[in-house]
Amino acid sequence: MRDMTLSDVAAVCAIEQQVQPQPWTAGNFNDALRCAYRCVLDEIDGVIASYAVLMPVLDEAELLTIAVAPTQQHKGLGRLMLLDILHWAQTQAMRQIFLEVRVSNVPAIALYRATGFVEIGRRRGYYQHGDEREDALLMACELKGEAHG
Ligand SMILES: CC(C)(COP(=O)(O)OP(=O)(O)OC[C@H]1O[C@@H](n2cnc3c(N)ncnc32)[C@H](O)[C@@H]1OP(=O)(O)O)[C@@H](O)C(=O)NCCC(=O)NCCS
Repeated sequence: MRDMTLSDVAAVCAIEQQVQPQPWTAGNFNDALRCAYRCVLDEIDGVIASYAVLMPVLDEAELLTIAVAPTQQHKGLGRLMLLDILHWAQTQAMRQIFLEVRVSNVPAIALYRATGFVEIGRRRGYYQHGDEREDALLMACELKGEAHG
């Protein structure tokens, strides 16, 4: 895992366009980098394969986005990236990571459950889904690392 930089944004956006129903724009990624959110990625043979953006707030953080390039999915990269992020958060003495996910996003929900996230709520009609609205599941992962004693 390495830090994302401004020069990665175009390649990240190209993946984002392929995998997200409402893709982040280059401006969104630039803003995240400017705000010093934790923006990370993994490469395979020098090509970006996965990325994520985490917004730290004191001793908590929100996972804003995570994605794996279509040709690299189902190989464990999503799990690897999420576990790396959780480990990093533990080293920062963070206590909880939150996220929101579309109720229809079965792969992502399965990934989050498999890495220790549990459902803590639901936001009705949070996302656009074609002409309709879709609920968001609110999930949280409690960190119980050594950093907390
Ligand atoms: C969600 C996503 C990041 C998973 O990445 P991935 O590298 O394909 O996932 P992994 O290979 O690491 O799989 C880890 C776990 O996720 C779950 N999972 C992944 N793909 C799945 C699928 N198609 N159906 C059901 N569960 C799935 C499984 O629990 C899997 O564990 P298992 O292999 O032991 O069954 C990837 O599908 C993706 O980029 N989706 C589009 C972007 C997105 O929806 N991001 C999340 C919301 S911002």
